[in-house]
Amino acid sequence: MSAKHVGVALLGLGVVGGGTYEILRDKRDMILKNDGVDIEVRRVLDRNSDRLKQLGAESLAARDIDEIVNDPDVDIVAEFFGGVEPARSFLIKALEAGKSIVTANKEMLAKSWRELEAAAERGGGGLYFEASCVGGVPVIRTLTDSMQGNAVTSLKGIVNGTTNYILSRMSDEGVEYGECLKEAQRLGYAEANPSADVDGFDSSYKNCILSSLAYRRRVPLDRIYREGISKINVKDIAYGKELGYTLKLLAISKCRDGRVEARVHPSFLPSAHPLAAVKGPFNALYIHGDSVDDIMLYGRGAGALPTGSAIVSDIVFAAGKDTHRRFAFELEDGGDTVISDDFSSAHYIRFDVKNEEGTLAKISGAFAKCGVPVKTVLKKDDGTLIIVTHEAGESAVVRALAAAEQLSGVERVAAHIRVEE
Ligand code: HSE
Repeated sequence: MSAKHVGVALLGLGVVGGGTYEILRDKRDMILKNDGVDIEVRRVLDRNSDRLKQLGAESLAARDIDEIVNDPDVDIVAEFFGGVEPARSFLIKALEAGKSIVTANKEMLAKSWRELEAAAERGGGGLYFEASCVGGVPVIRTLTDSMQGNAVTSLKGIVNGTTNYILSRMSDEGVEYGECLKEAQRLGYAEANPSADVDGFDSSYKNCILSSLAYRRRVPLDRIYREGISKINVKDIAYGKELGYTLKLLAISKCRDGRVEARVHPSFLPSAHPLAAVKGPFNALYIHGDSVDDIMLYGRGAGALPTGSAIVSDIVFAAGKDTHRRFAFELEDGGDTVISDDFSSAHYIRFDVKNEEGTLAKISGAFAKCGVPVKTVLKKDDGTLIIVTHEAGESAVVRALAAAEQLSGVERVAAHIRVEE
């Protein structure tokens, strides 16, 4: 029996597009042998002639998206532009023409998922996005194809390499935030606009995608609580260490009694937690399923070949299908899921206090009155007082902080970081 021949077009030949091109070129025979599909890159769309030349892809260059969409020999379109436009419009065109699409574009997917699904439904092709979250680590198909015997109850992930690199260096070397960010940009981890990384947007897009798949319910992007790392002070990382914690920017979601909470913010984790050992630009996703218990997937969340690896896995997966995957999950309730905003966690709070008797007792009393019991205290000679609370709801903590700031012995609340026990 002859092998199935599948034509691919690549939109963009930058870092990941170029990596994908190289993998498909160099591993064509291996994929044919192992998977029985002969995958040929038939078209590429990139205006950078030097890049086309460098990759030896000049003869494949298309003039515009229409040339690709109208080519009957292109079955799969893989997109590497990043950002919402023109990626969204080009992919909708491709889907409506009956192509399957493969993308790493987490922002576009999180913002335009329904539109893409509808276009895929009209055209009959598939929508594949393994590379959108945690780069080369197969988190998407783990959630969709390897955990069917579970109700997933929580996700915790380090899903952004830039912020993990910054926090790891702040923690291990005591280097200030600004210097670490510059270095992350120099090393090429950061997005074009680093706000996408450091303000938690990138992690929120990934949380939206991962949580929707995990709970088989749509988790809307605009309902995900988001806080970045730009206000983090090395002092708090060091005090946290003394208390047995490691600081990470986490994408967290939980599903309890049909309610989903989803958030992205800096979190102290117990230093013995497996996620605390994930350093530098590496990513990891920690999943709890009610049958399998805890699992953790770890690896490179960015880069040409790691992300290219995930893209190629989608291309091979799509190439082998006659009936395509469009809806990664069925809507159970016909719409968006219920999102709980008043999530619970423990809290690390650093106060600047005056040298006054009884301030700790007064703070503890004010917190207890608001239903936020204090668990641990760390006191320094320079007027620094740190408390770690037991688990409490956000609104109760906001009330407790407001009450504490009214106390005569308290100068100010200098830092407030959530703790995931
Ligand atoms: N800027 C992203 C990161 C790239 O740092 O993880 C991968 O999505």
